[in-house]
Amino acid sequence: MCRVVCLLAFVSVLGLAAEALDNGLALKPTMGWLHWERFMCNTDCEGDPDNCISERLYMQMADMMVKEGWKEAGYEYVCIDDCWPSRQRDAQGRLQADPKRFPRGIKKLADYVHSKGLKLGIYADVGKNTCAGYPGSLGYYETDAQTFADWGVDLLKFDGCYMDWTLLGEGYINMSKALNKTGRSILYSCEWPLYEWPFRKPNYTAIRETCNHWRNFNDVYDSWSSVKSILEWTASHQDIIVPSAGPGGWNDPDMLVIGNFGLSHDQQESQMALWAIMAAPLLMSNDLRNICPRSKELLQNRHIIDISQDPVGKQGYRSAKVDSFEVWERPLSKNRLAIAVLNNQEIGGPRGFVIRAAPGWKICDPKCNVTQILPQYKEMGVQTQQSKMVISVNPSGTALLTVTPFSSDFTGLHKLHWENTSIRHKHGTIL
Ligand code: GLA
Repeated sequence: MCRVVCLLAFVSVLGLAAEALDNGLALKPTMGWLHWERFMCNTDCEGDPDNCISERLYMQMADMMVKEGWKEAGYEYVCIDDCWPSRQRDAQGRLQADPKRFPRGIKKLADYVHSKGLKLGIYADVGKNTCAGYPGSLGYYETDAQTFADWGVDLLKFDGCYMDWTLLGEGYINMSKALNKTGRSILYSCEWPLYEWPFRKPNYTAIRETCNHWRNFNDVYDSWSSVKSILEWTASHQDIIVPSAGPGGWNDPDMLVIGNFGLSHDQQESQMALWAIMAAPLLMSNDLRNICPRSKELLQNRHIIDISQDPVGKQGYRSAKVDSFEVWERPLSKNRLAIAVLNNQEIGGPRGFVIRAAPGWKICDPKCNVTQILPQYKEMGVQTQQSKMVISVNPSGTALLTVTPFSSDFTGLHKLHWENTSIRHKHGTIL
């Protein structure tokens, strides 16, 4: 553990190890909606017109985003995933949208989304084909980048199927250059490390210089086991991936599946809390036309979104595993700290978790203010180093707290704070 703590202290002193892709985008984790997990490759617009991949789907989502408070909450990008194009490029070698499902074309769709004050994302692939078998961009990077720019696209998700892995880096870098050359600001979402991990440890310095966010691990499914596997992968690779995140470039643990079928409400709270702790892009994949009010309230919870969008942009990490609880922490601006406590015991009822400020835990010396955000908002008031707080956490649920130092003397002491955090865990004073 000390390895990560020390690394973070190092990073906070020297600044980020690598420069981010310098396109001025994704200074905070991207927020929006992406079709894949919920709508997949449904192209059957005759049999299933409401759920097929068509211009109608994105127009309706854009409408909902404005009407139902999503835009106001910060969700901005409406993103197309795989299965949008024709099987053939046009006579000039350009990608074209499937004419039956997108009769007005992508440019008109972008105009519509922009007219709502939102942004449009599209999907392509660094290799010969997309994962679902549609035309890939290999050999067409400049053409495709220019086509997307001409259409007014604002984000490109660039997948990594059907590509020789030794050429992945070159391909992702060349597309980054091609996007840059268009002169349009296009947020660049990559899957480079996901496809490289099976062969070698990816070069996160190069990835951060190339992409605004990058997928590291498997696709999310609508299940708690899938969300758990993503959290476990992230925690077990945190010493490698956490330092690479910061304004302009983020680790992407994949979509939020909140509001669908597979997660209990407690599990939905866990996904939301931990995606905020991980400084992850918040790209929902759900049906905004039909979402239960509790899921909607959770996804629009401004306290959690504030943690996600914290301007310092440091990714949090797992700091302890104790008695089937996991503790995750994220350093926030103004020397605040977010703490998530996940109850991994999937049997029985709520269990109490004791938080005790250890002597030397500077954030509460002499006093701190603690606010509980999940499972319900509660001001826990002023705490001192002697305080003992017991929080109740449901099975597979998460309690989310913020800790704010009280003393105006407590400024710029991140380094001290982290050093003390490691001492705190070594002595096991967080129980
Ligand atoms: C890959 C990606 C997914 C999705 C599908 C589409 O599996 O990781 O996020 O884009 O391809 O085919």
